[in-house]
Amino acid sequence: MSSPVPPATPDTVDPGRGNGVTESCTIVVFGASGDLTQRMVMPAIFRLARRGLLPPEFRLIGYARTRLTDDEFRALMRQAAVREPREGDEAAWSDFAGRLSYIAAEYDRGDLQGYGELARRLEQHGSGAGAGARRLFYLATPPALFAPIMNHLSDAKLAGTAYQRAAGGWARFVVEKPFGHDLASARSLNAELARNYDENDVYRIDHFLGKEIVQNLFALRFANAIFEPVWNRTYVDHVQITAGETLGVEGRGGYYETAGALRDMVQNHLMQLCALVAIEPPSEWNPRAVRDEKVKVLRAVRTISPGDVGSSAVRGQYGAGFIAGEPVSAYREEEKVAADSYVETYAALRLHIDNMRWAGVPFYLRSGKRLPKRATEIVVEFRPAPHTPFLPGGAGGSGVRPNKLVATISPHEGVVLQVEGKLAGQDMQLRRIDLDYCYTRDRKAAESPSAYEHLLLDALRGDPTFFARADEVEAAWEIVQPVIAKWAAERATDFPNYAAASAGPLAADKLLARDGRRWHSPEE
Ligand SMILES: NC(=O)c1ccc[n+]([C@@H]2O[C@H](COP(=O)([O-])OP(=O)(O)OC[C@H]3O[C@@H](n4cnc5c(N)ncnc54)[C@H](OP(=O)(O)O)[C@@H]3O)[C@@H](O)[C@H]2O)c1
Repeated sequence: MSSPVPPATPDTVDPGRGNGVTESCTIVVFGASGDLTQRMVMPAIFRLARRGLLPPEFRLIGYARTRLTDDEFRALMRQAAVREPREGDEAAWSDFAGRLSYIAAEYDRGDLQGYGELARRLEQHGSGAGAGARRLFYLATPPALFAPIMNHLSDAKLAGTAYQRAAGGWARFVVEKPFGHDLASARSLNAELARNYDENDVYRIDHFLGKEIVQNLFALRFANAIFEPVWNRTYVDHVQITAGETLGVEGRGGYYETAGALRDMVQNHLMQLCALVAIEPPSEWNPRAVRDEKVKVLRAVRTISPGDVGSSAVRGQYGAGFIAGEPVSAYREEEKVAADSYVETYAALRLHIDNMRWAGVPFYLRSGKRLPKRATEIVVEFRPAPHTPFLPGGAGGSGVRPNKLVATISPHEGVVLQVEGKLAGQDMQLRRIDLDYCYTRDRKAAESPSAYEHLLLDALRGDPTFFARADEVEAAWEIVQPVIAKWAAERATDFPNYAAASAGPLAADKLLARDGRRWHSPEE
């Protein structure tokens, strides 16, 4: 007798792509009137629908306080999702729009009838075997509302283990960043969610993990014989991870004043990239194996003691300057920013991973606003060749540069392996050769899903591989917590300490210069 096929769980789910969602389902977006919904979430869902990846019985319910009728909500979402209409968009939109509806209601305070209305709508969509039984709740609200909304949904039996047992469907949550404000608040949010929900139903989103090039790091490392043997302390000199923006806070000064570069970028996005570069090969390709390895490597990051913060971390804040010839304000002159703000708009860290693979190899992380170039990249710099006949300035030689693997995440996605080669001609002159793969030139990749599409599809299919688990988020907070504490206790006295469009504070250059290294420049 053949045994029944076990239901897909996060440990067994087939992470194969290309297949859409076949089971009918409903997405409920909380904060549906907001910026994130309009810029990222709705365009991604519409593209999934347009590409035929959502089930025929798909429904979407927007939920927010702003008074809108269903039609007004559809019109707002159309503006957001069909910005530059392409052939076929009109027909696709009219089918998609019919699947949208809206609930104008409170999330947590006052009259909470919205949850009752939500229950009725889900019931209408078919709670038994229909779209209403399988629910993805997207929390695109301010973070303070994540736990209250999830608690109300549990109280209303619209989600949670009791719901899933009774209804035979599923209810999952996509939880936006920031997940916590520090280690203590992240722990407490995790504990609160765990009261009503199984960890497998909580999808903490970090859109960097939905990027093709980031996911490709796994393929590069674990599907090629040439990289794994050199991916260690014997051959790698150091690793740099940079997220630079030319933009300032763009009207989000109120939010940024509570965050800063360390919380906004380093604790989540850069730490995720660091974990992916440094991860040990998972024993198999499934969400648990991959995320177990990420947690292991994050836990191996050496704790920065309060006494070491000064030598391992650098903070900066931009002053006024010129970008493309136009004057731009200092951070302290931005809207909703305190005139004496000590919030950092630039943060750099030097980390050490205390394990067999990485002992002695520094990982330098930096993120800043108002830098000269928008560039997010990972640079793995290899040690120089142990011996070479090509000496700097020597016969026929022009010096030998170390090999680098550069994975660019923005402004385009691609990987370059920098090697030394011979300049065509009589003499033995060396030049750098870029073995270059650019995703944006690859037609298939250009058509492939955006980060939000990737991740939404994964969540709908029950695959949490590229979402952060509770212990992973806490491990990342643990790394930055001593720096947060020190910086809060000792306010910066030199802010602003870099001009807009400059390369960042001088102290960040010194952080590497002390180790005899320098930051990779995106122009390289
Ligand atoms: N925007 C981004 O680029 C971005 C990027 C990454 C992560 N995130 C995260 O995604 C979430 C949503 O971001 P967002 O930029 O869309 O936020 P938002 O526009 O400020 O807020 C989303 C919606 O939440 C409701 N809201 C706002 N402030 C509220 C308050 N104090 N009390 C109750 N409801 C409030 C508003 O809808 P109603 O008034 O109609 O209820 C608003 O339209 C946040 O957690 C943010 O940290 C955003």
